[in-house]
Amino acid sequence: MTAFPVRRPRRLRQNAALRRLVAENDLAPRRLVLPVFVKEGIDAPQPISSMPGVSQHPLAGVADLVEQAAAAGIGGIMLFGVPETRDAVGSGATSPGGILNRAVAEAARAAAGRLTVQADLCLDEFTDHGHCGVLAADGSVDNDATLEIYARMALALADAGAGILGLSGMMDGQVAACRTALDAAGHTGVVLLAYSAKYASAFYGPFREAVESTLTGDRRTYQLDAANGREGVQEALIDIDEGADIVMVKPAGPYLDVLAEVAAVSSVPVWAYQVSGEYAMIEHAAAAGVIDRERAIGESLLGIRRAGAEAILTYWALEVAGWIRDGKDLA
Ligand code: PBG
Repeated sequence: MTAFPVRRPRRLRQNAALRRLVAENDLAPRRLVLPVFVKEGIDAPQPISSMPGVSQHPLAGVADLVEQAAAAGIGGIMLFGVPETRDAVGSGATSPGGILNRAVAEAARAAAGRLTVQADLCLDEFTDHGHCGVLAADGSVDNDATLEIYARMALALADAGAGILGLSGMMDGQVAACRTALDAAGHTGVVLLAYSAKYASAFYGPFREAVESTLTGDRRTYQLDAANGREGVQEALIDIDEGADIVMVKPAGPYLDVLAEVAAVSSVPVWAYQVSGEYAMIEHAAAAGVIDRERAIGESLLGIRRAGAEAILTYWALEVAGWIRDGKDLA
């Protein structure tokens, strides 16, 4: 007499209706945020070759993108500026006429409260050396001098109408510095999204083309070491202590363990950024015919969601929101 398996996990996998009913995780458009590159001085979108399907947009195209995002029902857009000129201290970041501040104003006007307008608060798009902060005389990135500029950038972005500031520079004390400056100016409602566990990553490669930034040296003195998990959790806890409203892990796919640990201990919402290289890997592999594009995209996003991200920044936000609306399975 054969001993039959007592436990049969396959029972719940036997047909699509059951699988759909017992799925633990799914995604909603509201959980997706679209990163958007706005370039100064162009009048038509310019494709980014390393990121097939993604373009730099002219300022005049921002309102239309906001309409598309609102129609798709996504949670927000994250704006990045690509300035025409750069200098040592990133002046374009703090000037009200700077491309990012103008893009934020345009987006906030067009959004009219239908979705959140978020802005990347960092200097690397605005400095000629490409670092996320200003440099000391010895060429190192000067943490505390940078904090003063971040505080001014926070005010400029808040004045322009940004609802959420994504603090991505990885300077110590950046959350407290921005919160203090914002509160003193009466911007108590501006939300701080801390890119807390931001790793020094090769997966930001295509982003460099997207923002036309060339970096002298590397970011290893301020972004985290890929070997370290505990340090990522620690960074999130420090940022929460300093007043972060939301914390983020970035990149997402290679750091799902960190994401899960941060999600387990965080007292505030936890997000993840599926970065340019994660996007490019799937697009280029799919174009080469080696993976099923849509299933790979869906699976990558479900993995990030399963690890604990409540919202995800992804360059596929509009497309995936459409799939969800159409009732398509994600993986
Ligand atoms: C900093 C910033 C970067 C990204 C988002 N914000 C670049 C970096 O820190 O090197 C990368 C995002 C991506 O690769 O998609 N301004």
